[in-house]
Amino acid sequence: MKLQGKIAVITGGNSGIGFGIAKEFEKEGAQGAIHGRNQEKLDRSQKELGASFIGIKGDVTNFTDLENLFKETSEKFGKIDILVISAGGGVGEGSLTPLDQMTEEAFDRMTDLNYKSAYFTVQKSLPYLNDGASIIFITSITSEMGAPGFSLYCAAKAALGSLVRSFSAELVGRGIRVNAISPGIIDTQALLTVGVPEEQVPHIQNMFIEKTPLGRMGKPSEIGKVATFLASNDSSFVIGEEINVDGGFMGVKQ
Ligand SMILES: NC(=O)c1ccc[n+]([C@@H]2O[C@H](COP(=O)([O-])OP(=O)(O)OC[C@H]3O[C@@H](n4cnc5c(N)ncnc54)[C@H](OP(=O)(O)O)[C@@H]3O)[C@@H](O)[C@H]2O)c1
Repeated sequence: MKLQGKIAVITGGNSGIGFGIAKEFEKEGAQGAIHGRNQEKLDRSQKELGASFIGIKGDVTNFTDLENLFKETSEKFGKIDILVISAGGGVGEGSLTPLDQMTEEAFDRMTDLNYKSAYFTVQKSLPYLNDGASIIFITSITSEMGAPGFSLYCAAKAALGSLVRSFSAELVGRGIRVNAISPGIIDTQALLTVGVPEEQVPHIQNMFIEKTPLGRMGKPSEIGKVATFLASNDSSFVIGEEINVDGGFMGVKQ
């Protein structure tokens, strides 16, 4: 039980990678809150996690919702030891737009979700975090690639990789460690959120699988296990790092 007695908040915790992380944390003895906008997914995921986790509904791009997330969690459990920022991905129409067709409105929605909300999630959490807490961003291997139409998503994830280092420097005085996990292709519904039609999802997933030396998608639980390492004292000498969990996509060539 590596996280016994620890209190965790996981944005995007009602689905996909965030939920996979919540399940691993629960197995390791953590309690806390999962967060997301969709009440039905929140209820279903909270039920599967059991009584040690609560579901809190909210939008990470809304500061009142963010403040409420931390207030409600600490009223229920006390101060927070682990913050995971997994909320992110597409915003529906306009998510994957080439440069010459991008609108300011779509630009703002993508960067609000994938960059600005992550910045302010950390800021709003600070009064509620215990000294010695662990903050974990979920970035993406796409931050080190260029892909047509993906510019905002890739750039926002690259920006989070940078925040990890500056926030580490700012928060080290409180013993707060900030790190990131950079996933490769993981088996979730994420591609639907960027507006990829359901029937094309396997095709795009296969394009990534072909370039993944392990020859398959990762599972949310495999991100959860690395998050458990970063959340626990096992990683006590690790700060300002971004760990690729990608089946060798970035580093291994065959
Ligand atoms: N799957 C992959 O291959 C992959 C690879 C690299 C990185 N990632 C990153 O991993 C993270 C999780 O994605 P996923 O693959 O697990 O996809 P997912 O299942 O679609 O999860 C996205 C999560 O973000 C939440 N969310 C989205 N917009 C939100 C908002 N405005 N306010 C609050 N919550 C919001 C969603 O909940 P609601 O819809 O209920 O709000 C959901 O819980 C994302 O940051 C994504 O960029 C995924």
